[in-house]
Amino acid sequence: MLETPLVEMLGIGYPIIQAGMGPWSTERLCIASADAGILGVVSTVGLAYKIAVPSALEDGADVWDRTPYELLRMTLDSVGEKTAESGGIFGVNIPLAQEFAELIEGLFKATTDARKDPDIARRLKVIITSAGNPTPWSGTIRESGALWFHVAPSVYHARKAEQAGADLVIASGREGGGHVAFEPVHTMTLLPAVVDAVDLPVVGAGGFCDGRGLVAALCLGAVGVQMGTRFIATRESDFQPMWKDKVLEAGTDGSVVGISVFGPARYLKNGVSLRLGELLQKGFEEGYQEGVDLETRGIELSMAGEEPDRAVFFGGEVAGRIDGVPTVEEVVAEIAREAEEVAAAVLEPGGRR
Ligand SMILES: Cc1cc2nc3c(=O)[nH]c(=O)nc-3n(C[C@H](O)[C@H](O)[C@H](O)COP(=O)(O)O)c2cc1C
Repeated sequence: MLETPLVEMLGIGYPIIQAGMGPWSTERLCIASADAGILGVVSTVGLAYKIAVPSALEDGADVWDRTPYELLRMTLDSVGEKTAESGGIFGVNIPLAQEFAELIEGLFKATTDARKDPDIARRLKVIITSAGNPTPWSGTIRESGALWFHVAPSVYHARKAEQAGADLVIASGREGGGHVAFEPVHTMTLLPAVVDAVDLPVVGAGGFCDGRGLVAALCLGAVGVQMGTRFIATRESDFQPMWKDKVLEAGTDGSVVGISVFGPARYLKNGVSLRLGELLQKGFEEGYQEGVDLETRGIELSMAGEEPDRAVFFGGEVAGRIDGVPTVEEVVAEIAREAEEVAAAVLEPGGRR
């Protein structure tokens, strides 16, 4: 049952996408995910702003005279090299928010140019756009030769992505970590509504962490799931240990939606995110500047792994269901095992528990 159209389309082992999670780095997570037989995804915003730079530059090399194009090329070459043995499949997440306007072109060009290497072209299969209007970029994405997935937080945005020419839509519900839509529509409602609204394969995002969730998504008409918060708490993930602890500590009521730079975002609760939640209640006009100042400082602290009450931690409601820090391979194997078991018990004739 796990051989879905997503698996066929990408040539991966399991219908799971490791979510892009900028501005933090997901370079190591992408490598572990691709090696484990799911789609690994490189996040780009932190690269472009030079705050989450490629591992190749970590030992103090100067990044300031490198362009977003060069930094993404280095990352993609490094991921390509490190996953060559497993033949892992990976993609790039490029958020299209206005705030990143001057960075986006270089990120697309880096992806297109990286694909000129035949081995990379065989394995760097997808561009995942999000957080903005994809229509102006459709020609650029098509020229890259990669498949095009777009993240949509509403039926309206899913239809727009289909009209723009995307190959697949990722329907992203309100319980997910990171940026969420202004309209609070959750995965249980959004995912089947998007499946009905577009004539494209649909992946569900927001609230998934296990095999039961994956089977539920398939029952709602999806071809797979995208998971962010689950993969933060894995051994290989690039996120700081204090962030992994935060995921483990959170209950199902452990997240809050607050102001972020380009719309509301879901954070794990702490002093700063509760304040960002209050500012969202006041509205973007009144709360924006204080919110963005708090978030900017909080991002720096979360990257440095310091001051857990002033750092910001994007994270979803599903943190409340995560209680360990396994390897990515262990997460994937357990999801596959549980999904097969649940499908047999619940979906097969005579198998209902
Ligand atoms: C730390 C963090 C950073 C994120 N940054 C991005 C991003 O840069 N681009 C994007 O499309 N989505 C981003 N997201 C959303 C994820 O891609 C994904 O859709 C979401 O985490 C799914 O919900 P879940 O956390 O319940 O699994 C982020 C999520 C988290 C938790």
